[in-house]
Amino acid sequence: TQSLKLAVIPGDGIGPEVTAEALKVLEQAAPADVKFEPTRYDLGAERYLATGEVLPDSVLAEIRRHDAILLGAVGGRPGDPNLPPGILERGLLLRLRFELDHYVNLRPSRIFPGATSPLADPGDVDFVVVREGTEGPYVGNGGALRVGTPAEIATEVSVNTAFGVERVVRDAFARAAKRPRKKLTLVHKTNVLVHAGAVWSRLVTEVGREFPDVTVDYLHVDAATIFLTTDPGRFDVIVTDNLFGDILTDLAAAITGGIGLAASGNVNPDRTAPSMFEPVHGSAPDIAGQQKADPTAAILSVALLLEHLGLDDAARTVEDAVVADLAARGSAPRRTSEIGDAIAARVAG
Ligand code: NAD
Ligand code: IPM
Ligand code: MN
Repeated sequence: TQSLKLAVIPGDGIGPEVTAEALKVLEQAAPADVKFEPTRYDLGAERYLATGEVLPDSVLAEIRRHDAILLGAVGGRPGDPNLPPGILERGLLLRLRFELDHYVNLRPSRIFPGATSPLADPGDVDFVVVREGTEGPYVGNGGALRVGTPAEIATEVSVNTAFGVERVVRDAFARAAKRPRKKLTLVHKTNVLVHAGAVWSRLVTEVGREFPDVTVDYLHVDAATIFLTTDPGRFDVIVTDNLFGDILTDLAAAITGGIGLAASGNVNPDRTAPSMFEPVHGSAPDIAGQQKADPTAAILSVALLLEHLGLDDAARTVEDAVVADLAARGSAPRRTSEIGDAIAARVAG
């Protein structure tokens, strides 16, 4: 029997609610000869407010020794004066992504049979956004001068290294090469962000020579939002910068059935540290604690986790169970745990 260590960070808001359902499903999906050993880490708003700790080094070191991480969501109560914006987002979530070198933020989008798109005629939609995960405007390279005065200056400088861009671009090409349509779209804003744009364009051209079967095209990010709503079927693999990828993947979620269905993986393709799987959504304070959240995004994140660990059959079982559940969904709202129970029951067969 193989034993796999799973670090579980339920986090805040709906995070614990959806994580509980994801774990139910994982328990049913694990093959007979694989045992998942979950360890729970109580990181998030409560811990910070009680102790001032966000992610102690010793906890990070422990998390690092796991085979994978499952995260719910982080984010405090809106407007809480004791928890300024960014403390948890930067100190916990981004710190994990950076320290564990999650340079591929993988965000697949499909309109599953049974899911409803708000688009009248979306067509066949099945694309994946490969969002850079460790650089761009997220690195915290900025500052503020003369704060609170009319002369205030605030900067957030996007960092794009050839090393960082090349590795994520190569990963995106490799993914495109394995997909039937073999198409890669670079999304950027090279007409304005000329320095970063030049690095991305050049490396896409250079790395593209290693993948002659992959068709490459380019869209400015503003135009990409047009095509995501008018012709999402045109996309196969999108490779893009950290911030553009963040924005585009909420839109991608919205057009493919809603944010409650969108899964993601923060992947370290070199496997020098555990990868982390989480829904695309946040802590949803507006519905937290009411069993109103859809746990499907967290459950599909478990499917990505299983696939990453090489448990492809188990991953497919979870996905099939979700598809079956979506197809059977009526209009009556179900509680978070009811959706989780229904999907877990389908996985159990
Ligand atoms: P959000 O994703 O939490 O919520 C946006 C809207 O989507 C809300 O109306 C919410 O109710 C709805 N929603 C989200 N998940 C849902 C689900 N599973 N089922 C049904 N409805 C769902 O985004 P936000 O409001 O911009 O952010 C709230 C907090 O979460 C902020 O503190 C933000 O920083 C944080 N956040 C964390 C993560 C993460 O941990 N990965 C991701 C995004 C936002
Ligand atoms: C996401 C979130 C995070 C991001 C925030 C909370 C740091 O929006 O996972 O999409 O911007 O990456
Ligand atoms: Mn986001």
